[in-house]
Amino acid sequence: MSESNRGTDRLVEVFMEGMAGVTPDVPPSFEELEAAALEAMDERAYGYVAGGAGGERTIDHNRDAFADWHLWPRVLRDFDDRDLSTELLDTEMSVPVLLAPIGVQSIVHEDGELGTARGAAAQDVPVVVSSAASHTMEEISEELGSTPGWFQLYWSSNDDVAKSFVRRAEAAGYEALVVTVDNNALGWRERDVGDGYLPFLDGEGVANYFADEAFRELLDSPPEEAELAAIRTFIDVFGDPSLTFDDLEWLCEFAEIPVVVKGVLHPDDAREAVARGADAVWVSNHGGRQVDNAVPALDALPKVASALPADVPVIFDSGVRRGADALIALALGADAVGLGRPYAYGLAVDGADGVEAVCKNFLADLDLTLGLVGYDDVEAVDREAVVRAEEV
Ligand code: FNR
Repeated sequence: MSESNRGTDRLVEVFMEGMAGVTPDVPPSFEELEAAALEAMDERAYGYVAGGAGGERTIDHNRDAFADWHLWPRVLRDFDDRDLSTELLDTEMSVPVLLAPIGVQSIVHEDGELGTARGAAAQDVPVVVSSAASHTMEEISEELGSTPGWFQLYWSSNDDVAKSFVRRAEAAGYEALVVTVDNNALGWRERDVGDGYLPFLDGEGVANYFADEAFRELLDSPPEEAELAAIRTFIDVFGDPSLTFDDLEWLCEFAEIPVVVKGVLHPDDAREAVARGADAVWVSNHGGRQVDNAVPALDALPKVASALPADVPVIFDSGVRRGADALIALALGADAVGLGRPYAYGLAVDGADGVEAVCKNFLADLDLTLGLVGYDDVEAVDREAVVRAEEV
C-alpha cells in the first residue's frame, strides 16, 4: 500500500506560505481558474478551449449531473493511511486520475504539451497524449520520464498513417492506446464558427503528422518547404466518419498495447466495443464539444459500468472539476477519472507550474475528501459512498 498525505501536505504548504504573505498564483477554485485563463489567453484560443457544440447545453448539463448525487460521509473509520494508487490495464498509477487528451496545447501556452508533461510528471499524474499535439509523441514521452503515458489515436482516414501512429506510440513507450470514437467529424462549435477559427489551419497541433514517415509519403514536398499544402493534406486525412465496429476489431488485433475506446455513452456501444476486443471503455461526451444537449456523461456512467463485466476498466471524464466529482464518478463505477479543461487552464495561467498546481490541488482535495467520506483506499470506493439527492 502506498500511503498518501497529499491533502494535509498541501494544506500545510499553502498555510505556511500564507503566513509569509504569499497566496497561490493558480486559484484553487475552478471558476476563478477559468477566469484567470481567459485573461491569460488569446480570445479565440480561449473560445476553442472553453467552448462546446451548439448552444453548449451539454457542458452545463455535465456539471449539473453531479448535483443529482450527494456523497454520504461515514465517520470513525480510520483513514489515517490513505491509498490513492490503482492499476489500470497493467499501468501502475499512483493516483486514479489521468490528464485527458487535449490537442493543440500550443494555443494555450508556448510550452504546450511539454509543459503539461513536466507539470504532470512532477506530481506523477499519468498523461494521455493527443494525436493532435503540438509536439511529437516521442518528445512528450521524453518529458514524462517514468510517469505513465498513454497515446490517444485520432484514426486517420489514411490507413498507413493510422498504423504508423500506433507503431510509433508503442515504440515510444506508451502503455495503452486510447482510440477516440466520438470525434470522427468535427462538431458544430458556435464560438469557433463565429470566430472562423480552427487552430490546425495555422499549423498548430500537427506535429505528429508532419514528423510521420507515412504522412510525409503523401506529400509532394516536405512540410518544411510547403506548409500550406501539408496542412491541406492533414485536413484530408485527419478523421474518418466511415469507421465502424469492424474497424475497431481490426485495431484491437493490430495494436500490441491495450486499447481503450474513448467517447462511449450508450451501454450497447460499450458491450459491443468489448466484444470486439477493446480492453477498457472511457465514458465521455468530449466535454460537450461534439453533440449539443447530449446525455450528460455522468448519467451514462452507471449504465455503461453495469453493462460491462467487473474486470473491464471504466474511465470517466466530462465535467470533473473537484475531488468530490472524482469520488462520485468512482462510486458510480469508474476506475479512474480524466481531468480536462482544469489542467489546460493551469497551463494557460502558469505553464508547467500551473499544471503542477492544478494537479496538486485536485489530488489534495481528492485525498482529503476520500478520508472524510470514510474510505482509506480509492479502490474501495463503491456505490455506498453516494446517494441520489432526491433520496436523502
Ligand atoms: C479535448 N478533448 C480531446 N479528446 C481527445 O480524445 N483528443 C483530443 O485531441 C482532444 N482535444 C481536446 C481539446 C480541448 C481544447 C478540449 C477542452 C478537450 C476532450 C478531452 O479529452 C475530454 O474528454 C474533455 O476535456 C472532458 O471534458 P471537461 O471535463 O474538460 O469539461
